[in-house]
Amino acid sequence: MTGTRTVAETSLPGLRLARRGKVRDVYEVDDERLLIVATDRISAFDCVLPTQIERKGEVLTALSRFWFGRLERITPHHLVTTELSRMPDAVRASGDVLRGRSMLVRRTEVFPVECVVRGYLAGSGWKDYLATGEVCGLRLPQGLRESDKLPEPLFTPATKAETGHDENISEERMCEIVGEETTRRLRNTALALYHDAETYARDRGIIIADTKFEFGLDAEGQILLIDEALTPDSSRFWPAAAYEPGHSQPSFDKQFVRDYLETLDWDKRPPAPPLPPEVAAATTDRYLEAYRLLTGKEL
Ligand SMILES: Nc1ncnc2c1ncn2[C@@H]1O[C@H](COP(=O)(O)OP(=O)(O)OP(=O)(O)O)[C@@H](O)[C@H]1O
Ligand SMILES: [Mg+2]
Repeated sequence: MTGTRTVAETSLPGLRLARRGKVRDVYEVDDERLLIVATDRISAFDCVLPTQIERKGEVLTALSRFWFGRLERITPHHLVTTELSRMPDAVRASGDVLRGRSMLVRRTEVFPVECVVRGYLAGSGWKDYLATGEVCGLRLPQGLRESDKLPEPLFTPATKAETGHDENISEERMCEIVGEETTRRLRNTALALYHDAETYARDRGIIIADTKFEFGLDAEGQILLIDEALTPDSSRFWPAAAYEPGHSQPSFDKQFVRDYLETLDWDKRPPAPPLPPEVAAATTDRYLEAYRLLTGKEL
C-alpha cells in the first residue's frame, strides 16, 4: 500500500470545536458560519473503527458538494464553499489537514428531526414490516420481500438520539415538535430530493435505498438543506448490478468492512478491531468508485 495520509481527528488552533461526531468534526468559525470537517474515520455496526480509510473524507465532502449543486433547483442549501482559498484565515491556517475535506457552511437553527426517506425495504424498516406489516406506522401491501422497492418512497422522520439509535417518530409527533406547516414542507422537500437523487443514481449503477436529510432555518427564516447530503454515510448505497430482492443487499461502500468484521469473534461493542490494510484499501476504492459513478469524474 502507498503511504497513508489519513486524518483520524482534527484539532484546529483558533477555532472552537462545536462537536465531534462519529465521522465529522464541526467547528464554529463565527456567528454566521460553521466548518464541517470530514475525517477519514469509518464506523461499522455503530462503532468507530481504529483504522481510517484513505480519501474517505474527501469523497464525502465532494459528494455532498455535488449533490448540493444538483439539488439547488429543489431547495436552497447551507454550503458556502469547499475551496480553501475562499475560506477565512483561521481555517486556511490549517490548510494541510483541511484541504478537500472541509465545507464552510451557513450556520442555522437545526430542526431537531431527521428527515428519513425510504425507497426500499431494508434495515429497521424491514424489521418493522415483518413484525407489523407497517413501516413507522405506514401500512404497506402484503407479501413484500426484504430489499423490495416500495410502491412509493416513504417519509419516516426520526429524532436524533445523542447515543445509540435514532428513534422513529410519527408525522403527528413531528408536527408537535416543528409545527404542521414546517412538517409539510420538510416532508415534501425530502421526498422531492430523494426522488431526484434516487432516479439519477439508479441510472448510474447505485441504488440509494434510503437516506437521511437535515434542515435548518437561516437568519432570514429560510429553510436550508444542511449537514451532509446523500453520502454513503447518510444513506444506504447498494450496487444496482447485484440488486436482488429477497435478502439483504451488499453495501456499496462498507461491505468489505462488514464481511471482514463478521469473520472475527468480536461482539460488536467498542473497542472495535482494526482492519487489515487490504480491506481498508479495497474500501477506499469503493468510495472512489461511488464518486466516479455518481459524478462521471475521477476525484
Ligand atoms: N448548517 C448547519 N447549521 C447548524 N448545524 C449544522 C449545520 N449543518 C450540520 N449541522 C450539524 O452538524 C452536526 C454534524 O455532526 P454529526 O454529529 O452528525 O457528525 P457525524 O460524523 O455524522 O456523526 P454521527 O454518525 O454520530 O451522526 C449535526 O449535529 C448537524 O445537525
Ligand atoms: Mg450525523
